[in-house]
Amino acid sequence: MSIHKILFVTSEAHPLIKTGGLADVSGSLPVALKTLRRDIRILMPAYRAAKIAMGRHSRKAELKLAGFPDDITLLEGYLPGTRIIVWLVDSPRHFDRDGGPYANAEGQDWPDNAERFTVFCRIAEQVALNQASLDWQPDIVHCNDWQSGLTPALLARTSPRPATVFTIHNLAYQGLFSWETFQGLHLPADLWSMHAMEFYGQFSFIKGGIAFADMLSTVSPQYAREICTPEFGCGLENLLSQRADRLVGILNGADYGQWNPARDPYLAANYNAFTVEKKKANKRQLQKIYKLPHDGDIPLIGLVGRLVEQKGFDLLLAILPQLFQRQVQVVVLGSGDKSLEQRLELAVSDYPDRLGAYIGYNEKLAHQVEGGADMFLMPSRYEPCGLNQIYSLRYGTLPVVRRTGGLANTVVDATEENLARGTATGIVFDEATPESLLHAIDRALALYSRPKPWKKVIFNAMQQDFSWRRSARQYLELYRRAASLG
Ligand code: ADP
Ligand code: GLC
Repeated sequence: MSIHKILFVTSEAHPLIKTGGLADVSGSLPVALKTLRRDIRILMPAYRAAKIAMGRHSRKAELKLAGFPDDITLLEGYLPGTRIIVWLVDSPRHFDRDGGPYANAEGQDWPDNAERFTVFCRIAEQVALNQASLDWQPDIVHCNDWQSGLTPALLARTSPRPATVFTIHNLAYQGLFSWETFQGLHLPADLWSMHAMEFYGQFSFIKGGIAFADMLSTVSPQYAREICTPEFGCGLENLLSQRADRLVGILNGADYGQWNPARDPYLAANYNAFTVEKKKANKRQLQKIYKLPHDGDIPLIGLVGRLVEQKGFDLLLAILPQLFQRQVQVVVLGSGDKSLEQRLELAVSDYPDRLGAYIGYNEKLAHQVEGGADMFLMPSRYEPCGLNQIYSLRYGTLPVVRRTGGLANTVVDATEENLARGTATGIVFDEATPESLLHAIDRALALYSRPKPWKKVIFNAMQQDFSWRRSARQYLELYRRAASLG
């Protein structure tokens, strides 16, 4: 069966709204699928910030949901810079507010998240069934992460219906809510069952996607294996193992239109694999931004990411005294856990000449770290795919990563053997411990001090191609399988 019409259901998409990699994927996979001549439309909540970022839009349909008093409008516009149609679910009481998509400015989850994403998922169901006055019937409904997990569960109750695919970008975020909350959601009572969406006494949005979608995917082959084990399965490993024949790992791609050192407008100097020495100007710029001494020779390590346990920033904090016995500078860009933010700021006051930290979200600076650092550190405890190591490869900023999830699938360790073979693209280490991290950085520093192999690895890294085209074809195959099962 050929799949033509795809409804892409997501809670964030760059450049409309972004908290992490899901937005990068939702802003670029649909573009790649459109290039493969598919009719793909994005459905997203009408957060205040997203409405503003979308610019011109029209009111496309007025909708109602049983159990909710709200008038809900579907707004139609385009993903900026593309011809991809975006429908924003405008329920002002739920989405028109300042703050982030899931939490307020202080980082506390919105207390009505269960209701907000129930409304979103039920509207997705209406659109999927062509009951939203849009005159458009998708062949596939592609849901992403817990915020859309209820939709496959609702659709599974209806026939005929389009086939469903659920992609897990991060299994640790599950959308868990109490029995009392569930009772206020006006959902079918039988969804509260261990065979449906009940999970150890809570209502689990992600379980709706995992248990009911026709096909499942996650964002790297390695993470697809890992989540079937107790170590990474977050309690869902048995269900995932039962459905393992329907679970595939498809590596995320990079949007090289946005992440390309040869064209990046945020860099002091643009460069490619043949002009990497120009990177020095970006290093200088970065040292200036972070108020670190200007030194072209000292190795500079960059980190960008959400400051949460997953990302292993605490491992870095644990080795700072030993690390700064070496000649090295470190710059960090991130926001998240308040305690990690504070520990980082304290560390900067201890090592002002060596460590720079910018607490906050800053798209431009993320590019400048990629363009200016010599190495990019990702000591993640788990990493479903990870995008920054893929960007780092293209920027010739050698990734130093833990062998987990997508990191294991995208970076080739610079062992002597791989160096000799010409396949090395970074440094990979095994244990999520301070010792192991320090040892990995020492290996990276040793390589840095050998200009010839160092330059060769940079050249290899910059040649790697993780563009979306290949992954988009794999998604089409996944859609075909889902449609043949649905
Ligand atoms: P995750 O989705 O787990 O956060 P990814 O590596 O897949 O991790 O994607 C993270 C994305 O978010 C990257 O595009 C990264 O540059 C961006 N990002 C994360 N934190 C920040 C920040 N503080 N400022 C700017 N960009 C950030
Ligand atoms: C998640 C994961 C990250 C992945 C991203 C996009 O947030 O933590 O590893 O790259 O989703 O799929």
